Amino acid sequence: MERLTTVILAAGQGTRMKSDIPKPLHEAAGKPLCEWAMVAASDLSDEKPVLVIGNGQDLVKDYFGDEVNYALQAKRKGTGHAALMAKEYFENSDGLVMIIAGDMPLLTKETLQNVYDAATQEGVAGSLLCAKVDDPTGYGRLITNYEGFAAKIVEEKDASVDEKKINKVNASVYCIKAKILMECLSNLKTDNVQGEYYLTDIISMMSADGNNVVPVLTSAEECIGVNDRLQLYDVSLVLYERRRKQLMKNGVTLIDPESTYVSYDAVIENDVIIYPNVTIEGKTLIKKGCTLYSNCRISNSVIGNRTVVENSVILDSVIGDGSQIGPFAYLRPGSNIGNGCRIGDFVEVKNSTIKDGAKVSHLSYIGDGEIGEKSNIGCGVVFVNYDGKEKHKTTVGENCFIGCNTNLISPVNVGDGAYVAAGSTVTDDVPSDSLCIARSKQTIKEGWKKYRK
Ligand code: UD1
Ligand code: MG
Repeated sequence: MERLTTVILAAGQGTRMKSDIPKPLHEAAGKPLCEWAMVAASDLSDEKPVLVIGNGQDLVKDYFGDEVNYALQAKRKGTGHAALMAKEYFENSDGLVMIIAGDMPLLTKETLQNVYDAATQEGVAGSLLCAKVDDPTGYGRLITNYEGFAAKIVEEKDASVDEKKINKVNASVYCIKAKILMECLSNLKTDNVQGEYYLTDIISMMSADGNNVVPVLTSAEECIGVNDRLQLYDVSLVLYERRRKQLMKNGVTLIDPESTYVSYDAVIENDVIIYPNVTIEGKTLIKKGCTLYSNCRISNSVIGNRTVVENSVILDSVIGDGSQIGPFAYLRPGSNIGNGCRIGDFVEVKNSTIKDGAKVSHLSYIGDGEIGEKSNIGCGVVFVNYDGKEKHKTTVGENCFIGCNTNLISPVNVGDGAYVAAGSTVTDDVPSDSLCIARSKQTIKEGWKKYRK
């Protein structure tokens, strides 16, 4: 394979998004717009992609860190100028440069492979991606020469009445020999209606020099660029729909695909059944045979084999095999639930480990705690982990029974096999195998009603 440098243009202002967030970071189906192009191009080169940034550059850098190389376009002077800003990464290359507009999240790996393959043919200096669309308004129109190579791209604003009728449009993906690209970029001018350095002008320059550029045709859908929130919605619909089809082909049952939103970074194993209104975000792993009933949000978490989750929110947590979660459980970050556990309705867990076979069935708060194997936490138990200044830890050993409405005032430890009577407020450690009763004794005043007045 020839050396390939990928350059993604993402310095534009994105005015039409009407947002404080820079356009490249707006998410479609859980990924920033400009990351989709990186993913689509990722198999073509081992080099880090170059991201041309400008507007909101600090936020973009915070997000991508050192996963990419950056080129700064301090002033927005057009797509040609943006590409030139990345020259340090390809000016000495003998290979190819692929330039992709960072606002086209529907591009696929196969399509970019086709663009690359076209550029590596004998007697060719580069390639570009184009599509036939019903309504070409806003796009650059592609004009080809008698041999079928690209001759020129005319921007909408510079097009004549006849040129405007052309419905073959430039998709803004180019793969060009680095040396030739360098020369063309250095010679760009701003003699157009917008007074910008158009990247598209390299095509007529190359054509005039007899450097052949192959047009690669793709679907109109793949070329949808995102300029406003409506287009963001359009591309998100397509991305989620593609994802649903992938999942179903891989053996996942979606009861109502259209209300199921699954991140591309998630792994859903086969025989998982997903009911309506489920959202799975980030790097979540749902193992074989799980059932996710309606209304779950699961983010960056692992759900073990055959676990059942219903109407629950699970964030940055791990759950073992054969457990039952919900309905209405809230597992906050750092919840580590074992195998065969039960976390029932209105139970909130945070930064806590609940070991195999333990049960917290109703109306409890487990914060900064540890619950041993097979312990049973009664209804309404609260781990009182915060004293107003600091958080403290509570441990409950294995095979314990914590009666209903108990407050465990942390830091406190309940030993293995211990029992705590319902309604207790436990402030001191409870030894193993003991019974702790920490509540006032019941008093009865016989005939009290008579003296009430
Ligand atoms: C561009 C093409 C047009 C094509 C269309 C496809 C040019 C001159 N025109 O038009 O032929 O049909 O894409 O969607 O290239 N950018 C910068 N710096 C700049 C200007 C733009 O980084 O100074 C980035 C933007 O962030 C964006 C990309 O380049 O990601 C494309 O810019 P945009 O303004 O959207 O170009 P279009 O008008 O859509
Ligand atoms: Mg655009």
